[in-house]
Amino acid sequence: MKNEFIYQIFPQTFCEKDNKNGIGNIKGIISKLNYIKSLGITSIWISPLTKSPFKDSGYDVEDYYEINPVFGDMKDFDLLIKKANDLNLKIIIDIVVNHTSNKHIWFKKALEGDKKYINYYHFKDPVNDGPPTNWKSKMGGSSWEFVPKLNKYYLHLFSKEQPDLNWENEEVRLEILKILNFWKSKGVKGFRFDVCNLYDKPHIFEDDLEGDGRRFYTDGARLENYLKFMNKNSFNNETNFFTVGEISSTTKEKSVNYAKVNNNELDCVFTFLHLKVDYINNNKWTYTKPNLTSYWNTLKEWQLYFQNNDSTLALFMNNHDQPRSISRFGDDKNYWYQSATSIFGFTSLLKGVPFIYQGEEIGMTNMSFNSISDFKDIETLGNSKELLLDHNEETVLKILSSKSRDNARSVMQWDNSLNAGFSNAEKIDLLINKNYKIINVNNQINDESSVFNFYKKLITLRVSDEIFTKGKVEFDDNLDYCYKRIIDNREILVITNWTSKNKPLTLNINNYKIIINNYQNINFKHLLPYQLLVLERF
Ligand code: GLC
Repeated sequence: MKNEFIYQIFPQTFCEKDNKNGIGNIKGIISKLNYIKSLGITSIWISPLTKSPFKDSGYDVEDYYEINPVFGDMKDFDLLIKKANDLNLKIIIDIVVNHTSNKHIWFKKALEGDKKYINYYHFKDPVNDGPPTNWKSKMGGSSWEFVPKLNKYYLHLFSKEQPDLNWENEEVRLEILKILNFWKSKGVKGFRFDVCNLYDKPHIFEDDLEGDGRRFYTDGARLENYLKFMNKNSFNNETNFFTVGEISSTTKEKSVNYAKVNNNELDCVFTFLHLKVDYINNNKWTYTKPNLTSYWNTLKEWQLYFQNNDSTLALFMNNHDQPRSISRFGDDKNYWYQSATSIFGFTSLLKGVPFIYQGEEIGMTNMSFNSISDFKDIETLGNSKELLLDHNEETVLKILSSKSRDNARSVMQWDNSLNAGFSNAEKIDLLINKNYKIINVNNQINDESSVFNFYKKLITLRVSDEIFTKGKVEFDDNLDYCYKRIIDNREILVITNWTSKNKPLTLNINNYKIIINNYQNINFKHLLPYQLLVLERF
């Protein structure tokens, strides 16, 4: 696990081959395995491929055992596993079992009044003729939906099309095991557990007078037992099997346990506090520039806490839910190359398991949206309705443009041909970033000075040098955006400047040799805008 470098694919927008319906597919993924391998990647995490009505891009599963026909079929999937194996690439799949789709047979039966399946979900009686609690859905609006026929509300922490499963019901847990073991027997080599710190819901449902309800259902008391249960009965600490949990809104004290050595839960966790530094009062749907001091303090604090507790963090700045980090933390207009390389390089040499997200390796940027009607994502649309109650359209457009998940979901930019080379379909209904004629794989792959080739060089270094895979991380309290990796008597210094201005270099680097520099030159007095230096002590 320590030597992994993982590439995330969002199948809908990655690559389409053959069927011309304008949506990415498994054949498209297969056609790009060599490309991914050429970057030095060791494993691929693919967002859900299972059958889904696609209200939330596949994170609403209708059938856990079937491939979504828009992506292909089980034969395609088997071929994907085989081709990936041939290249020594591991396939990690997304496991979405906090909730199902409302089109899942279990939920349909529950709606028909079947008691067994009602108990698969959280159906509750109305309280004072209204919903059981005041909790908010993450997609906007209440987290409860009323079913007149049953005279009950059901819980959905995400959209109303994503009812939450009742993990306390043993039958549900056994169903989940069956799903895990089915995919394991298909040859997948890892699981990414979607929102897994929300599995355990409280026994008493009460109003949240301080927030949106998350403090009552995040990191529940039984959660660690559930993780241990899956581990024991499925992947069982297999050394060749990789697990990562998505743990949002958590504390470091809680999350450290989920990936602690010998806790028999997960291999590593995605946490998000380092990205929530452009939220106002913990509210994502606000507009402000990232606070670089908070970013640095959070990063340092979590790195040390996980190191001291023998636990493992996933390292990432991008995924299908996040705006592109080059536009969020970087200066994608004036220092595009330097921003792409310094943000990636600085964060992936830390201690943990590094992940990158499709398109990041060529410096893909946020979209530019002209109107609220340009957005497609369910979370963005749900929250825009609420924002419009309090703000004018211009402000809402500005907030959505900076935070929408659509920024990460425009099609992968392969070349400068039709649809950015993503698909041959005449018309596609997906977002295409206008800059694809300049920013694309074809333009970069043979150019030694490209973002792509920087990624390749750094990934190769990251997976092959034990100072990064096994070494300690150390910080100096007087220096920000700077850390050391140490093993035996070797020491590597990683230092960056995430601003568009020069930054004084207050440390003496005469005793170090340069391993990586994203500029041609080095100036011993200051770091240039978005400069990254990786130096090894003589
Ligand atoms: C996770 C996924 C996100 C999805 C949500 C509900 O956060 O990454 O895309 O909408 O869970 O499944």
